[in-house]
Amino acid sequence: MLIKNVISRLDMITCALCNDAPCSSVCPSGDPAKALLGIWFDDQDVAALKLPDKNICAQCDAPCEKACVNSGSVPIKHLMNVLYEKVRPEAEIPIPDDIERLKCDICGVSLENPFLLSSSVVASTYDMCERAFDAGWAGACFKTICSLDIHEASPRFSAIKGDNGSIIGFKNIEQLSDHSVAENMEIFRRLKKNYPTKFILASIMGKDEAEWESLARLCEENGADSVELNFSCPNMQEDGLGSDIGQVPELVERFTRAAKRSTTIPVLAKLTPNVATMSPAAEAALRGGADGIAAINTIKSIVGVSPYTYVSAPAVKGKSAVGGYSGNAVKPIALRFIAEIGQNAKLKGMHISGMGGIETWRDALEFILMGAGSIQITTAVMQYGYRIIDDLKAGLNYYLAQMGIKSVKDIIGAGLDSVSDTTDVLERDTVLFPAFDLDKCNGCGRCVISCNDGGHQAIKFDDRRPKLDGSKCVGCHLCRIICPTGAIAAGKKRVNLKNREI
Ligand SMILES: Cc1cc2nc3c(=O)[nH]c(=O)nc-3n(C[C@H](O)[C@H](O)[C@H](O)COP(=O)(O)O)c2cc1C
Repeated sequence: MLIKNVISRLDMITCALCNDAPCSSVCPSGDPAKALLGIWFDDQDVAALKLPDKNICAQCDAPCEKACVNSGSVPIKHLMNVLYEKVRPEAEIPIPDDIERLKCDICGVSLENPFLLSSSVVASTYDMCERAFDAGWAGACFKTICSLDIHEASPRFSAIKGDNGSIIGFKNIEQLSDHSVAENMEIFRRLKKNYPTKFILASIMGKDEAEWESLARLCEENGADSVELNFSCPNMQEDGLGSDIGQVPELVERFTRAAKRSTTIPVLAKLTPNVATMSPAAEAALRGGADGIAAINTIKSIVGVSPYTYVSAPAVKGKSAVGGYSGNAVKPIALRFIAEIGQNAKLKGMHISGMGGIETWRDALEFILMGAGSIQITTAVMQYGYRIIDDLKAGLNYYLAQMGIKSVKDIIGAGLDSVSDTTDVLERDTVLFPAFDLDKCNGCGRCVISCNDGGHQAIKFDDRRPKLDGSKCVGCHLCRIICPTGAIAAGKKRVNLKNREI
């Protein structure tokens, strides 16, 4: 049942996911670039089902591979054949006719799907929001509006990259919108007029109570559907702003109350992950009248300390600064905070807008299962563009239809019962052994190395094949995580620790 990922990013690791992809422009029958995006973004059932009916790739001499900017290094023909021959026949349902099941809301205000741009450079002009809305995003949380004099540093970004060059974690030292409040209000008016069904979330940051109040009022008057209070930017030049507020529950309560005084639309408090637990600030926001919580903003970080200059990245004329970390690397931390808020009984009924490292519909699904009712995204858009919305929507819609779930709203928080904040609830008397599939094993012995040096010396290497010693295995599953060919799975066999036998 459900997507088995016959192919993965690893099979197309050299694909550049091109703009105006040459592979598609020379293809006589279809759009291989679109299918490759589907594989990259975990949406291969839909990618396979969208291919033209007849597999002409099998007989084609693959001009796509010759046109590829990476000169034939992406096995496009093979991948299309796998989609045709392996993925499509296994697809459990056809592509659903509609996307009604993606409809949801933020505090009662309709969303055509759960996906919004999060407040940042990706939603900082009229033109950008227009293109994102046309592409299919349900709304945008506009770049934080303020009356401060914003001058950004250059360069202002840095990243930790994976082996194929894609971004794993992203650091920024960017601040807030450098447009005037009046300019941003004009943008809101135009957006609301031209896109009345799209959700405009106005992110604001005031300097004092009066300003939180006046900015919130202005946003409502100029067409915003909801206001997001930025209590969480870690990059402010002056003390007492951004995450400095989010770390002090009394200030969160006071400024939320100020914004609520002047608005009738829903107010979300955007909270900082730069705290031990988020509940004190979230409860303070609720006391101040907030209707929901948005989380997470970026995590304070240092990356890329140069071995030559000793300066971390991004270096601005020989200096750097602690800055906010985002992207896929922060997803586990974000999920932990979303679950904390989702499980807090005092916050029951508050909307949670979840973000932090979401790239694919599966990432988004994890946030929804942990309690998020809407999803926001920045770093993946910075890396891949607004076009990711296609696979976010199609993948989530296909999953819901396949599982027989009528509405995405039905599964908000559905995974919360299994999560415990502490490990004391876990059963500790049995060991679940790993199971080795020797047909998939390539004999590399990485499981042996890891078990010897990072485990419990429970795997022997015999004629280049692993053999488990059940009397030593503690069932930690390090071998399974390390195995590069997926030859190790969770076994069926459990033993009682006191009575170990295999
Ligand atoms: C370059 C950049 C600029 C950002 N600017 C803002 C901002 O103005 N206001 C805000 O609330 N969050 C801002 N954020 C934080 C994002 O909205 C989001 O909370 C965070 O990046 C985590 O999501 P992601 O991993 O999808 O990027 C910014 C993030 C980045 C990367």
